[in-house]
Amino acid sequence: MKLLIFLAIFLVGPCQVQAKAVFAHFMVGNAANYSISNWENDISLAQPAHIDAFALNIAYNDPTSADSLLNAFYAANSLGFKLFLSFDYAGNGPWPEEDVYNGQPFVSTFEDWSSLGAKAALEPGVADGLFSWAAWPWGGNDMNTYTDASYLQFLIGLPYMMPASPWFFTNLPGYNKNWLWRGDDLWYDRWQQILFVQPEFVEIISWNDYGESHYIGPLYDNAFALFTIGQGPYNYAANMPHDGWRLFLPFVIDTYKNGIASITQEGLVSWYRLNPATTCATGETTGNTASQLQIEFEPYGIVQDKVFYSALLASSATVTVSIGGVVQTGTWENAPGGGIGIYHGSVPFNGDTGEVIVTISRSGTYQLEHRPL
Ligand SMILES: *[C@@H]1O[C@H](CO)[C@@H](O)[C@H](O)[C@H]1NC(C)=O
Repeated sequence: MKLLIFLAIFLVGPCQVQAKAVFAHFMVGNAANYSISNWENDISLAQPAHIDAFALNIAYNDPTSADSLLNAFYAANSLGFKLFLSFDYAGNGPWPEEDVYNGQPFVSTFEDWSSLGAKAALEPGVADGLFSWAAWPWGGNDMNTYTDASYLQFLIGLPYMMPASPWFFTNLPGYNKNWLWRGDDLWYDRWQQILFVQPEFVEIISWNDYGESHYIGPLYDNAFALFTIGQGPYNYAANMPHDGWRLFLPFVIDTYKNGIASITQEGLVSWYRLNPATTCATGETTGNTASQLQIEFEPYGIVQDKVFYSALLASSATVTVSIGGVVQTGTWENAPGGGIGIYHGSVPFNGDTGEVIVTISRSGTYQLEHRPL
């Protein structure tokens, strides 16, 4: 899942005019059981989130993807949504020089571009633009834009597709994957960075990659084969909906594209891990991963035991967090200029356990509340 060249094959119309767009990375392999109506359901959730297209991740030699793509394009065509292909050659090369897909030859790309870096990928004639997979912070740090800046430096005006992801945890020994990267404030921080960097394109990682835990799309019981194939110790996506991470996408995406967005309704989203980091053994999960040439840490050393919350508000308000009935008044670590927009903050677990309820109030009057589903 590290291919850096992006090939845009748009369904509707030629794409001569450059305009900002936001895509979501979609694992076609997880949709092997999708009917057309499942595709329509996903598309009809992406459209109100102001996502422009799915980047359809298809793997080399996956026999199921041809049927899936027929359904996907049928559904997208009927709903006026866009799709393009994202060829996934991560991991298990070597690959043939050229391949045939659906009777049409296409040139494959076999280099691990992210390890070569932006400079090599931009040798003359090789790429029209680049997508970075560096969407997660290093170790116990918060996210920054150093890698994005390096891409921009070498792209010298060519399109840059900036990645945005809410968090990362994978434990799939069958794919030799067992690590996490810090999530925590990431979904808020990263969109602020996108508003600042103003890249040509944004790709959300991901819509439905359940195995890496960063999905923002819906869950389907018949889409979890990867936990069996990847020998996951358990299905850590089941009953863990991440739909809340789509709630403010219309606001941030409109702001990214147009510099302005309207608020039709105030909203509140919160997220947290269900257990303090040192409650149980690590299951050999590492923080960072040597498989991507990183120094590794204990996972409990890089994630913070906190309840994180973001609120889209028309004016400031008080946030309180109850953990098992113990109430803390939260602070806003980030507040929007002018007071209208997304506020963000967190409170520590403080050793408390139990039901989490986050509440927004003004002058003592309850406004919004978020409880676990
Ligand atoms: C599709 O459904 C079958 C039958 O329930 C199941 O065995 C398989 O794992 C599912 N595929 C995916 C990709 O989840």
